[in-house]
Amino acid sequence: MFKEKTNSKRTIISEGEQSSKKVISGSLWEYSPSPESSDHIKLKDRYDLFINGRFVKAKEYFDTINPSNEEKIAEVAYASENDVDKAVRAAERAYNKVWSRLHPKERAKVIFRIARIMQEKAREFAVIESLDGGKPVKESKSLDVPLSIAHFFYHAGWADKLHYAFPGTKPRSIGVVGQIIPWNFPLLMAAWKIAPALACGNTVVIKSAETTPLTLYKLAEVIQEADLPPGVVNIISGDGRTGSAIVNHPRIRKIAFTGSTEVGKIIMKAVSGSDKKLTLELGGKAANIIFEDAPIDQAVEGIINGIYFNQGHVCCAGSRLFVQESVRNIVIRKLKQRINTLRVGDPLDKNTDIGAINSKEQLNKIKTLVKTGIGEGCTYYEKKCELPEKGYWFRPSFFTNVAQSNTIAQEEIFGPVLAVLTFRTPKEAIEKANNTPYGLSAGIWTDKGSKIFKMIAGMKAGVVWSNTYNRFNPASPFGGYKESGFGREGGIHGLREYLII
Ligand code: NAI
Ligand code: MG
Repeated sequence: MFKEKTNSKRTIISEGEQSSKKVISGSLWEYSPSPESSDHIKLKDRYDLFINGRFVKAKEYFDTINPSNEEKIAEVAYASENDVDKAVRAAERAYNKVWSRLHPKERAKVIFRIARIMQEKAREFAVIESLDGGKPVKESKSLDVPLSIAHFFYHAGWADKLHYAFPGTKPRSIGVVGQIIPWNFPLLMAAWKIAPALACGNTVVIKSAETTPLTLYKLAEVIQEADLPPGVVNIISGDGRTGSAIVNHPRIRKIAFTGSTEVGKIIMKAVSGSDKKLTLELGGKAANIIFEDAPIDQAVEGIINGIYFNQGHVCCAGSRLFVQESVRNIVIRKLKQRINTLRVGDPLDKNTDIGAINSKEQLNKIKTLVKTGIGEGCTYYEKKCELPEKGYWFRPSFFTNVAQSNTIAQEEIFGPVLAVLTFRTPKEAIEKANNTPYGLSAGIWTDKGSKIFKMIAGMKAGVVWSNTYNRFNPASPFGGYKESGFGREGGIHGLREYLII
């Protein structure tokens, strides 16, 4: 059904605007370019650190570039250990003097205000997210920004009701929390972390990832406009050393990290032996399982959404497809057809499905793993299309003839590359799905509710979607098993991580 709808829409557009030849080849229908306007975007040439409610200069600055054309967008401040210390002290003062003493109702009001101002600037946020990170504006507009706003609204609602969330207890705030986020969903990860921290009465020092600092600084402007007391949220930018200074700062009471398992392990070691609380949201190698009784067209859409969404830069991406043997051929045939209709190109074009890879480093990592897959004898299929000359690009692709022991079935690629494997029985599907050091998410496609429950009971994954994929809601907890980390974000489970109960 979904596919038919998409087709009919495409037909209408191609009839009306078939003149343009400037679209990426390989699609069924050609679209005219439809770039999102960026005239309304106000970007500074230089971004300072946001500490104690003001923008303050740093000693060093680094460039942030647009990965779709490699052009410099702005310079951003590099936070040194000294700057981290200033931010933590500002957060501590704000915690002791204002935020922890404020009536929870007043806390809620400011968080609501942040959400409402973000709504007013939603388009601006979406365009900046796509410029700085390379993701299609269609996605930043429909997912990143509205979901970020929803997180602030949801948590604003909890601020004065925490004792209802945990009946019979007197939940208390923790103090200053240090938050370190990745580049795949910059604004959303900031919202996931800042909103519950504030609702629970804590103050924050948060660091953006190297390649995507801009929407966080836009959020800093919103925070200023919303009259959040100075120092309650401090936003800084830098690299691993900056992150490490946050993790090791003695006045920080809790660390919340999203990123690679490798850095997660370093942080866990650093924090062990201290009384800091810790939550880690790390990598994944999710199984998307298609049974023969599944609605195949919908399942194919689910596979596409599962792995090619945000160029595969998604920790919960459905990067391993397990398809029941009897429907293997039809699923692969449809998958080939479907990836050839995906549009790869300008992230700011409203029709783009696959934008730019976030950085040169990430592109090299994807290329290396794909080479390894081919070297290990897996069969590689990629969309046929030209790629823009400048910028970092990778065609949506998949591997067949994959064994569980192959590198591409074990390691997180974090790009638009799917590994297709097969199974015969539900038991075998569970065993294969669990055969990974990760356990963040999974998908199940079947017509039978009983089978869904049976599968869920056997699978070690923090989130299991059935007959859908990549759905998020602030009220629903998200987090992993095994090397995907621990602790939950979202819902009552997520609140618990920011409280002493
Ligand atoms: P990363 O884990 O190095 O970076 C994530 C954040 O941690 C960034 O803000 C970075 O500055 C910070 N960081 C780096 N070293 C640190 C340290 N020693 N102490 C404290 N903070 C530190 O991830 P990277 O290098 O950008 O990507 C590498 C791979 O990690 C990707 O290819 C992907 O497989 C995975 N990844 C997973 C993510 C997820 O959402 N689970 C997000 C980003 C990357
Ligand atoms: Mg950038």
